Amino acid sequence: MPVLSERLKLIASMVPRGKSVCDVGTDHGYLPAALCLSGKYGSITATDIREKPLENARKNLEKLNIKGVDLILCDGLQKVSEEKAETVIIAGMGGDVISGIIENCPYKEKSVFILQPMTAAQVLREYLAKNGFFVETEVAITENKKIYSVMRCRFDGKKRKLSPSQKRIGKLSTTTEENIKYIKKQSDICNKCIKDLKNAGISSPALEENIIAANEMKTILEDI
Ligand SMILES: C[S@@+](CC[C@H](N)C(=O)[O-])C[C@H]1O[C@@H](n2cnc3c(N)ncnc32)[C@H](O)[C@@H]1O
Repeated sequence: MPVLSERLKLIASMVPRGKSVCDVGTDHGYLPAALCLSGKYGSITATDIREKPLENARKNLEKLNIKGVDLILCDGLQKVSEEKAETVIIAGMGGDVISGIIENCPYKEKSVFILQPMTAAQVLREYLAKNGFFVETEVAITENKKIYSVMRCRFDGKKRKLSPSQKRIGKLSTTTEENIKYIKKQSDICNKCIKDLKNAGISSPALEENIIAANEMKTILEDI
């Protein structure tokens, strides 16, 4: 059994049982390997846009003697059928890249998406809100001293407008230490932006938005 990092374990814990799964941008292939070995899911597919990471996944699967993962070289889900992607995992990429992969997915209104942006989480949250995706759950996790957010969402067609703090912390609540850590980090980033903009004498919509976000996050943190 591959040893999953806490980040990958959290992602695996959000995958609905009994459905097909496609891991987009698999690289090492550890996640599909673990899902396949558990026997709790339907078909398991893994894609990567580059040959080398896919070869990496192939070797790791061979070492573990796993034959049940279908490896596909493609951009996003372009060569994966809808039946093979009832659940789609897109982890370890920028929020802008993840948004693009969802946008280009021909059956994006049907699949459940489990998403973990490495950067630009705000871009992804805004994309999801504007394009009718509902975030069911969101949880923060630390890996290599950096904190990330993992979200599970699905299309419901309802377009949403996020508040300034929702863009930064999404659906994270103060129920875990990791979530609190994430909210505090976003609050610190926001306060630094405010300070920098004020020092530069810039009075802009960005300053206003940061002030509202900082106040909203302060209230959330005071309520703990
Ligand atoms: C940092 S690795 C993440 C590996 C794994 N998903 C994880 O979270 O540990 C990112 C991988 O995504 C792949 N990738 C980037 N853009 C992609 C795309 N549009 N479609 C498929 N794979 C992509 C890269 O080649 C790379 O192997």
